[in-house]
Amino acid sequence: MAVQADAREVTEAIKKVRQARQYAPDVVADDVIQELLEIAQWTGSSRNTQPWHFIAITDKDQLQKISQLRTPINWVAEAPLAIAIVLDGEKEASEAYDEGRVTERLMIGAHILGLGGGIAWFGDDQQQADAKTILNIPADRTARSVVVLGYPTSTKDPRPNPAQAGRHPLSEIVSYNRMGESGA
Ligand SMILES: Cc1cc2nc3c(=O)[nH]c(=O)nc-3n(C[C@H](O)[C@H](O)[C@H](O)COP(=O)(O)O)c2cc1C
Repeated sequence: MAVQADAREVTEAIKKVRQARQYAPDVVADDVIQELLEIAQWTGSSRNTQPWHFIAITDKDQLQKISQLRTPINWVAEAPLAIAIVLDGEKEASEAYDEGRVTERLMIGAHILGLGGGIAWFGDDQQQADAKTILNIPADRTARSVVVLGYPTSTKDPRPNPAQAGRHPLSEIVSYNRMGESGA
């Protein structure tokens, strides 16, 4: 069966999820924050271990401090909300996978709710330790990033050294049946 038109609308919306780094000053309402936290809560994880804790950050001083951890995340200061993902710190590989899953669900959920989202990576070990201090996260937990959320004014990358936009063509990244083999 071909892709149905209403399903296509949803899949097109998913394809349009981009990293947002510039936000309007509008606050994100409490019920919207609650909805985002429930999206995070219901994300699947390895053996359903749910190895996470989430910190919803709306305090401007806190956002400012995180933005100062490293230059490539200085845009965090202008956002109204960020959700820090704190992992138990027990199983490195599966927790990294689970972190990616919950991050992407928040990004897609934000898009559906009319918001935009962006990943801000704390940086090296020292910068992660500094982020933990700012957020009162115990040293034995893993904390690498926040998902920044708000009403985007642009999805352009305003940084002096922007990441390249666009995607590799499917012909370069897909094989059929065996790697390197093209379809019929
Ligand atoms: C692990 C990871 C870390 C990232 N860290 C940052 C970051 O520190 N600062 C930033 O502006 N974007 C960061 N990004 C966002 C990427 O730059 C973005 O996903 C990529 O450029 C694609 O953007 P697009 O979907 O808008 O095309 C990160 C993404 C990932 C997956």
